[in-house]
Amino acid sequence: MKALVVFAHQDAHSYNRARLETAVAALEGAGHEVAVSDLYAMGFEAAAGRGDFATLNEPDAYKFESEQGNAYKQGRFAAGLAAEQEKLARADFVLLQFPFWWFSLPAILKGWVDRVFVPGLAYASGARYDTGLLAGRRGMLSLTTASPEADFRGADCLHGDIDGLLHHINHGMLRYAGFDVLPPVIAWDVHDAGDAARKGYLEDLRTRLETIETAEPIAY
Ligand SMILES: Cc1cc2nc3c(=O)[nH]c(=O)nc-3n(C[C@H](O)[C@H](O)[C@H](O)COP(=O)(O)O)c2cc1C
Repeated sequence: MKALVVFAHQDAHSYNRARLETAVAALEGAGHEVAVSDLYAMGFEAAAGRGDFATLNEPDAYKFESEQGNAYKQGRFAAGLAAEQEKLARADFVLLQFPFWWFSLPAILKGWVDRVFVPGLAYASGARYDTGLLAGRRGMLSLTTASPEADFRGADCLHGDIDGLLHHINHGMLRYAGFDVLPPVIAWDVHDAGDAARKGYLEDLRTRLETIETAEPIAY
């Protein structure tokens, strides 16, 4: 498979970076071709805007959504963004590696979705979920939290159930675009978990990446 790992952490020695390195090694070890988008290293712009386009269709009546609607088929996206869209178009498997921030994606990664999952590539009018334009691809979240697992599991848990908290990403972004979404792989409480648990979480990630072609997706 062609795999794309999208990575959103800015620190050179972070635990997230160890997960990126583990993921790339595991995927390559399993014979997959791996591309990485290291968003901070690339200086990826989080905010969608006029800079997304090499040329504008209606410069005097600029509306972002209208511009985005035609730009993919007309080849009008700015070169760097078009390159990211091309990486997504080529990928059979997409892994998002990120620290859980405010129950969601860091802005730089949300911005990658805003600017790369564009009409004509990820979805179209009437083409979403089962008929999303990226149907047949597989996607998975790999995230780290500061809070312990107990805070995210069970009816009375502190933060709310993790599957519910991740629904807007798994369903609202990946599944919307047609992906079959594999269950997330999560490293909990990473500041305090200790070295043995953190290594165990890397092993979980490595093991999960061995079965990306056969694992049962989340039922939506
Ligand atoms: C802006 C911000 C928001 C955060 N929000 C959450 C959160 O909602 N839940 C949580 O468990 N941890 C949260 N954290 C903690 C990060 O998830 C944690 O620092 C990260 O997973 C650690 O990974 P690292 O060691 O690779 O930096 C947040 C941290 C920051 C800086």
